[in-house]
Amino acid sequence: MKRWIVLAFAIAAVPAAAQPAYDMQAERAFVEQLLARMTVEEKLGQLTQYPGEWTSTGPWVSPTNEGEIRAGRVGSFFNIFGAETTKRLQRIAVEESRLGIPILFGADVIHGHRTVFPVPLGEAASWNLEAIERGARIAAVEASAAGIQWTFAPMVDIARDARWGRIAEGAGEDTYLGSRIAEARVRGFQGTTLAGLSADSTVLATAKHFAAYGAAEAGREYNATDISERTLRDVYLPPFQAAVDASVQSLMSGFNDLGGVPATANHHLLTEILRKEWGFGGFVVSDYTSIFELMNHGIAADSAEAGRRAMMAGVDMSMVDGIYMRNLPPLVASGALPMPVLDEAVRRVLRAKYRAGLFADPYRYNDPVREVERTLTPAHRRAARAIATQSIVMLKNDGDVLPLSRTPGRVAVIGALASDSLSALGSWVLSGRKEDAIPILAGIREALPGADVRFEPGYPPVVGGSFEQAVAAMLDTDTSGHDAAVALARSSDVIVLVLGEHRELAGEATSRADIGLPGAQETLARRVIEAAGGKPLVVLLTNGRPLAIPYLADAAPAILVTWQLGVEMGHAVADILFGDANPSGKLPVTFPRATGQEPLYYNLKPTGRPPTTAHKYNSKYVDVDWTPLYPFGFGLSYTTFAYDRLALSAPRIGLRDALTVSVEVTNTGTRAGAEVVQLYVRDEAASVTRPVRELKGFQRIELAPGERRTVTFVLRPEDLRFWGLDDAWTVEPGWFTVYAGPSSVQGLEARFELTH
Ligand code: NOJ
Repeated sequence: MKRWIVLAFAIAAVPAAAQPAYDMQAERAFVEQLLARMTVEEKLGQLTQYPGEWTSTGPWVSPTNEGEIRAGRVGSFFNIFGAETTKRLQRIAVEESRLGIPILFGADVIHGHRTVFPVPLGEAASWNLEAIERGARIAAVEASAAGIQWTFAPMVDIARDARWGRIAEGAGEDTYLGSRIAEARVRGFQGTTLAGLSADSTVLATAKHFAAYGAAEAGREYNATDISERTLRDVYLPPFQAAVDASVQSLMSGFNDLGGVPATANHHLLTEILRKEWGFGGFVVSDYTSIFELMNHGIAADSAEAGRRAMMAGVDMSMVDGIYMRNLPPLVASGALPMPVLDEAVRRVLRAKYRAGLFADPYRYNDPVREVERTLTPAHRRAARAIATQSIVMLKNDGDVLPLSRTPGRVAVIGALASDSLSALGSWVLSGRKEDAIPILAGIREALPGADVRFEPGYPPVVGGSFEQAVAAMLDTDTSGHDAAVALARSSDVIVLVLGEHRELAGEATSRADIGLPGAQETLARRVIEAAGGKPLVVLLTNGRPLAIPYLADAAPAILVTWQLGVEMGHAVADILFGDANPSGKLPVTFPRATGQEPLYYNLKPTGRPPTTAHKYNSKYVDVDWTPLYPFGFGLSYTTFAYDRLALSAPRIGLRDALTVSVEVTNTGTRAGAEVVQLYVRDEAASVTRPVRELKGFQRIELAPGERRTVTFVLRPEDLRFWGLDDAWTVEPGWFTVYAGPSSVQGLEARFELTH
């Protein structure tokens, strides 16, 4: 019989990054004296975020809104930026409103500001935490120089269903990888100290969307989620807690219903867990009109009730819908919304402004010279190129087609996405410009000066900027461009076939019920691959989500997943294609064989009748192999790595011990390369079912040809915890299997016992 041990995990009252240099007492005193002077309207103003509007020349604010600022009714602006514009508005708040409280300018700086980095899912494929942190840091430097003090990033939603388009915006399907990336991004945006938050080059970060938004049923955007408390705790919440432990200053509540209580009205999430269990001291902003949408969810009959439920649950600031300002005053007057609740929300927002240094110097973010000097610098572009290169995942390289020769003869580049600069940027680019982006075709041409590089779109390019036009073009089954593409393939020596998704097919509100190649791309691929005969042919997938590509996996000699890599996409792709860089990315998401396998993820639960059992009545599909097409953690290199000598420091450890796991990795090929060494664990028998494998560590190492390295991981009992039968974190003694290897389905194994 196993005995149960429930470990109490200390809750830090002060965020981990707090430094002695930061004077909490001064902050508290300042906030309290200001709060004491505020009217109810001014308090609600601080909790109100107004939208900006757009003209062809950029964001602006209407004169009505300027009046609102003067009246102290605007706490924050949404997606308004530019050093001059924000300074003008800040001046009204500081110099013309009664209390002079500065505005907090928040914006969606998701994967870079003007220097656009790979979409977050692509960046996650690098498994390079330092590079990811650097990317967020550069975004902070550029955004803060444009008058922004607060970004609505990182998105830390675990996404196990590739139909959900927002999978592009997060770190993929895994809780451990997602948690480490969440911390890295928070550190990058905010720095590592509370005192550093007031620097003019950091921005407050937002962990979003709290919580379980990525569990949307059927992968359909904004759909209801209904997961157990255990899955919530084990899978979806840890990246948020990691962000809180890294001192993230805000969270955004999700649009989703969670088991009957929409996230934006969910007291259990926003107060019980976030504040009481985790000790979060920052503020919560709603998602865009998500308070208003509580009426659509059917849990509020009118705006006032929606506002009351949101604030009582723990949403401090309302984004865009203005409900707090419009509908809450009578409720405060009647006591239906208690003043202490309102005051606490205001405190949290004032605290954020104080930490951002806005009271000390409201114009520190508004220097137009700095805005120019700090934006899209050569160093920023170099960093974007480096991580873009490391984000590329090689799925297949039969007969070493790759890298391609630099004297390849005639090169055919086929596929409209190859010249699509907008798609190179990916979704969510507030101030990224397509003219800054190097698309794939330009990158290849630049890498092969003087070579005969010819281009055929093959499938309809996206013309016109609207979402509807882009989606219609991508789903167009027109095959009229196929003949020219096939003719080019026949007359060329090397073929680069670019397939995948336009940026409007991945990101918010881009759920797909079929995640195969869109439109007539597969028909084109079949014809081009056949026409190529045995000539070198490489498929470049450019995508924001896993795609179901069984035909390509079978017929294409080489496949690179190039995601949507940002301004340096073409350079990064060329670096890999021609061997200046060696592929090192690993999938942060599982690629299925068919859409019907979704949700599909590596850390699934065992079933009573595993698909591998011999009899007919097992857990498989009758029409498609149940396994992934390409598993989580997978990615090839131009060199090869061998794993041996997996060793554990002890066959058994106690609850206060740590286990050291080491494995030797050798570069057995002829090129230098980087390998992501992955550590997985399986709890063999527990009081609740546990996943067949769970990632518990990884290290990205670089090895010269022939070089051997011992990679060491430390596993502690708390790394083995799970949400137990008694609704608390639990670590149970028993046997565990450890795997160390290059992906979630490979590796050496060993066992150890945890004893009490
Ligand atoms: C809705 C999205 O869900 C959220 O991620 C984003 O930050 C807001 N809109 C603001 O643009």
